[in-house]
Amino acid sequence: MRTEEGGAALHPDVERVLLSEADIHARVAEMGRQITRDYAGKKLLVVGILKGSVIFLSDLMRKIDLPCEIDFICLKSYSGQSSTGVVQLLLDLRESAEGRDLLLVEDIVDTGLTLNYLNQNLMTRKPKSLEICSLLDKPDCRKVRVNAKYVGFKIPNEFVVGYGLDYNEKYRNLPYIGVLKTPARG
Ligand code: IMP
Repeated sequence: MRTEEGGAALHPDVERVLLSEADIHARVAEMGRQITRDYAGKKLLVVGILKGSVIFLSDLMRKIDLPCEIDFICLKSYSGQSSTGVVQLLLDLRESAEGRDLLLVEDIVDTGLTLNYLNQNLMTRKPKSLEICSLLDKPDCRKVRVNAKYVGFKIPNEFVVGYGLDYNEKYRNLPYIGVLKTPARG
């Protein structure tokens, strides 16, 4: 078992590191370059899904070399470690989505219910284009289909924390993505 991550002691509640800080930064930079190429000549409206995407979004934005605006939307579907299956819109966009090139930025696609709901909701607002960018994807957990154009890492069906992802609002500030020890999830 690793006890250190990038020279810093591993959080005592974390069993192991799934993705190191260096792995994440390298992949986020690649994703930024790909998005920059794909949207050349366009202006993006980057939409962060609160709260899990904030750290990914802030790193990704700095790797996108294009004019872009930022907005946020907040949804809730999780309680502890399980999806409630009901998606609630807690905070809506301030910007109009109509006629804009929207890039939805998410931390993780799990059942797909959140992004499926959001995709349908935002499409009614007539954006010029709408693509999904998620740092993580757990394809084994999918209940509904989601087409994410940009995915950082496919991961196994394990509950992960860090780099914006939480367990009951904890661990978002860990610089790596790790799996919790079982008692920490109790
Ligand atoms: P979905 O609607 O089931 O796809 O879930 C998406 C949301 O569930 C994400 O934005 C996260 O907030 C949360 N989530 C899913 N899996 C995990 C995990 O392993 N760790 C932390 N949050 C997760």
